Amino acid sequence: MRILVTGGAGFIGANFVHTTHETMPDADIVVLDKLTYAGNPKSIEGLDRVQLVAGDIADADAVDPLVADADLVINFAAESHNDNSLADPSPFVRTNVEGTFTLLEAVRRHGTRFHHISTDEVYGDLALDEPRRFQPGDPYKPSSPYSSTKAASDMLVRAWVRSYGIEATISNCSNNYGPYQHIEKFIPRTITNLIDGVRPRLYGTGENVRDWIHVRDHNTAVWAIIDKGRIGETYLIGADGEKNNLDVTKAILEAFGRDPEDFDLVADRPGHDRRYAIDNTKLVEETGWQPEFTDFAAGLADTIAWYRDNEDWWRPAKEAVEAKYAQTGQ
Ligand code: NAD
Ligand code: TYD
Repeated sequence: MRILVTGGAGFIGANFVHTTHETMPDADIVVLDKLTYAGNPKSIEGLDRVQLVAGDIADADAVDPLVADADLVINFAAESHNDNSLADPSPFVRTNVEGTFTLLEAVRRHGTRFHHISTDEVYGDLALDEPRRFQPGDPYKPSSPYSSTKAASDMLVRAWVRSYGIEATISNCSNNYGPYQHIEKFIPRTITNLIDGVRPRLYGTGENVRDWIHVRDHNTAVWAIIDKGRIGETYLIGADGEKNNLDVTKAILEAFGRDPEDFDLVADRPGHDRRYAIDNTKLVEETGWQPEFTDFAAGLADTIAWYRDNEDWWRPAKEAVEAKYAQTGQ
């Protein structure tokens, strides 16, 4: 099997390449990645049967021959950080919308199976106290430039299935954590700040809730959907991991042996979504998928150990990331 993984030098894509390489010894994997600030070739180096092609998913000439040669295309490529989308939305429109469009046109031409990776943020947010969780058929109500461009990309995939009969599935996952995540994101930023002896920064009051899932569980769910999901369907991926940012920060501080109150409250994110929460019933009932990494404290400890052991991977980006946050008082 020849698998084209777009965005495979980023956080979730790189983890997907590693697990697929381990579990599918007959698979040849081609990674198409623009190697933006978020893509790191080191994350997938040294793997036989994995070829990295530097290129843009919005470049039809780069995309077409790779899709023509593939049996399966999985699209992880995206601009993925809300804070960056607030500062400059233009690359989000180009990559998330035009890039997905370009991939869809190529899979339409070549009749290739396509899986699109998306986010629960397309559904907007929930109140902190409402019992409801996101369902696959909920209306799309994105809040940010990031989530609105992801919503647009999902809409394109749905329309290409209906109008052109392409063979595609979509998954919308909750917040991931684990190795190889860029240090601009909440958990790795907090961990690397603490390695540097810097107090973690919590936006607003710290009450916002995210539904955390280990990246390896996300990726086993993606394979379950590719293997057993129904064409044209949307599946929500989550592992019942709701926690507010305050509790996550305190858990990381405790893992470092620090006072759990040793953090700073900083300027809130404009339009900050209050709470995300996934109802994964459809995924579990249709595919039998179950998460394995359900012990959050153990998953955090492994992730902290990974960042301690792989300082050469993240250190070059740290100063620039923190300089950017300093500009917004965060
Ligand atoms: P990431 O930012 O770590 O990685 C994105 C990768 O895409 C990088 O390697 C980057 O170089 C590449 N890329 C960017 N623009 C490109 C382009 N035009 N052409 C080719 N490659 C390009 O992101 P991530 O956290 O790994 O997210 C992957 C996908 O999962 C995204 O679609 C995101 O919306 C979705 N998602 C992420 C989370 C999360 O918690 N991180 C949760 C749910 C869904
Ligand atoms: P983030 O990792 O950016 O993911 P997302 O915006 O996709 O949920 O942020 C996760 C949560 O953590 C979000 O509520 C914003 C908050 N946050 C902080 O409180 N401090 C930080 O330093 C960062 C980066 C995020």
